[in-house]
Amino acid sequence: MTATVIAGTGSYVPERVLTNADLERMVDTSDEWITARTGIRERRIAADNQATSDLAIEAGRRAIEAAGITAQDVDLVLVATATPDMFFPATACLVQTALGATNAAAFDLSAACSGFIYGLNVADAYIRSGSYKNVLLIGAETMSRVVDWEDRTTCVLFGDGAGAVLLQAGEGDTGSGAPGLMRTDIHSDGAAWDYICVPGGGSRMPPSDALVDSRQQFLKMKGNETFKVAVRNMERAARTVLEDAGGIKAHDLALVVPHQANMRILNAVAERLELPAGKVYVNLDRYGNTSAASVPLAFDEAVRAGRLERGDLVLMLAFGSGLTWGAALLRWG
Ligand code: UT7
Repeated sequence: MTATVIAGTGSYVPERVLTNADLERMVDTSDEWITARTGIRERRIAADNQATSDLAIEAGRRAIEAAGITAQDVDLVLVATATPDMFFPATACLVQTALGATNAAAFDLSAACSGFIYGLNVADAYIRSGSYKNVLLIGAETMSRVVDWEDRTTCVLFGDGAGAVLLQAGEGDTGSGAPGLMRTDIHSDGAAWDYICVPGGGSRMPPSDALVDSRQQFLKMKGNETFKVAVRNMERAARTVLEDAGGIKAHDLALVVPHQANMRILNAVAERLELPAGKVYVNLDRYGNTSAASVPLAFDEAVRAGRLERGDLVLMLAFGSGLTWGAALLRWG
């Protein structure tokens, strides 16, 4: 039986740190408000000469190295991003050539903050069907380029970064203890497309249209509405994968790696699922919401910090613009 195994992880964040105190000098906000309402204390901002692919390349290089393979062994590069370098070519192609992954196909996946979970679902299907053997899946974003730095309700939330995993075909039954992805569950609800969006800059409101307000090219968000559906949908997706994997209980999980959007959202999900204290991995205090990069960045940190042992069960959760949401359950090893 073929199983999709995580053979290596990597991540990268830009050097520049933007603290809540820095934001106090930019918009009418306070460290107290941001910390209490979100849990975020600082975030990273890409240098002027860094685009999303630059972050993705570093994270990808580290995942390949951790997996102990070469870039030539990679046969698919998949980049989940909502902030690609350009409309086209795909950011994945820029990553593919920079890494020297000369034998790989490459494409981007657009599912906003859920992009990494969607990517796991896609990569898993490719690997289990035998189409690809070494898939480099990267979540990478430069949210700082689409955030409205004059809008205090959104600009305090986001940050830049990248996380990656190298997925490989492994042997064994995950249900009987073999390592690998056990279940993924992904969903969408396009009726709520305007909960989080960048309305301008695309074909509906092209940048060439002189009548379009240039601020339409910045991120807009209905924070309260998003908060509620985020909690509900992540809980639902989590219950689905746990149930589908044979009725795994929350207390069986070694680690939960959720999308790092807001500490209050994470607390609400943890409470509803009755997750044991200390099992929810949190790094949003240092990086804010890095969209598609958020889950793989947190996962790489957890792996490198030695938080996982062979056989441990890990639950990943995400939600985001689309709306999209999903969950993935895996056995580490
Ligand atoms: O990847 C998915 C991304 N999206 C999300 O995760 C969004 C989910 N939503 C949230 O995280 C929360 O809804 C927010 C953090 C965005 C907002 O928190 P909230 O507790 O829902 O605040 P609110 O929007 O209800 O605003 C409360 C007050 C308002 O003032 P008034 O009208 O009560 O006088 C806001 O104007 O807080 C004000 N406010 C701020 N004050 C200081 C909003 N943003 C700020 C700010 N600093 N940055």
